[in-house]
Amino acid sequence: MASPSNMPEATYAALAEAMGRPAPFSVVTTDTLWTDEHISAQMLRYHLQPDDAAASRPGTFIERSLDWITERFRLAPGQRVVDFGCGPGLYTTGFARRGAAVTGIDFSLRSLDHARGSAAAAGLDIDYVHADYVGYRPRGTADLVTLIYCDLCPLPPDSRHRLLCTFRDLIADGGHLLLDVVSLVALASKEETILFDERLLDGFWAAGPYYGVMRSFRYDDERIGLDHYTIFEPERRWEIYNWLQYFSPESLQAEFAAAGLRIIETCANVCGDPYDANGEEFAVIAVAN
Ligand SMILES: C[S@@+](CC[C@H](N)C(=O)[O-])C[C@H]1O[C@@H](n2cnc3c(N)ncnc32)[C@H](O)[C@@H]1O
Repeated sequence: MASPSNMPEATYAALAEAMGRPAPFSVVTTDTLWTDEHISAQMLRYHLQPDDAAASRPGTFIERSLDWITERFRLAPGQRVVDFGCGPGLYTTGFARRGAAVTGIDFSLRSLDHARGSAAAAGLDIDYVHADYVGYRPRGTADLVTLIYCDLCPLPPDSRHRLLCTFRDLIADGGHLLLDVVSLVALASKEETILFDERLLDGFWAAGPYYGVMRSFRYDDERIGLDHYTIFEPERRWEIYNWLQYFSPESLQAEFAAAGLRIIETCANVCGDPYDANGEEFAVIAVAN
């Protein structure tokens, strides 16, 4: 522990680090964000608030999305859907209710426990897998592969490529991939800001006392955004790096092509609304080449 005489230097160094501009994707902390004991409980709470969009989209959107997906991909008994990043099962439950054979993959045990409980209560047989989906290769093939709520975007380029290759290999003949991403319109409106607060975000980051610093960065050339959090607890200091890669339909197509995927349709969202060039997100349907 630092002696009182060198505390000012240590404090200065910690602050300087909290204020620095990290190199794109130099540190990745997605797993902490979703699997930390305290944070995952906050996330689950957000997932399950039907009017909140922090972890899952609002319930009305998800219902509309499920209806569109069912119709667009003709979901029916006998078809297999694999949902990457299924969380507490808001989509997987809907797919299973519509008769599909469903696999949901997530690395949040807390969310999976909830999902398994919901499936059991509803008498639905859903295959839930606890895994980091970057590197996990589901067995067999799927008629529909989903990655919903812009979850390609927090991944660094090599992980995105790996995941897209997994999708390519998983898609059955005649099958599809559906995912959504954040757009360059959203990047343009991202502001570089700094926030400092006692118990930043009302206790979201830790159960006990803490101070939090959040710095938001925009990397225009790389089309990346970062919300960087430094959390100062009495006994430790730790950081979260929330990166987002923003896409144009063209830049997404280029990444898909490199992984052997081809975009066949671009929409405003996973409800199938018409593509809007001014939208902050867009969704794509792709097939394996
Ligand atoms: C933004 S939430 C979206 C959840 C769900 N798709 C929905 O729309 O309700 C992202 C989910 O992906 C999971 N996740 C993120 N990265 C993951 C990874 N590398 N491997 C497995 N799960 C991951 C998180 O635990 C979380 O449940």
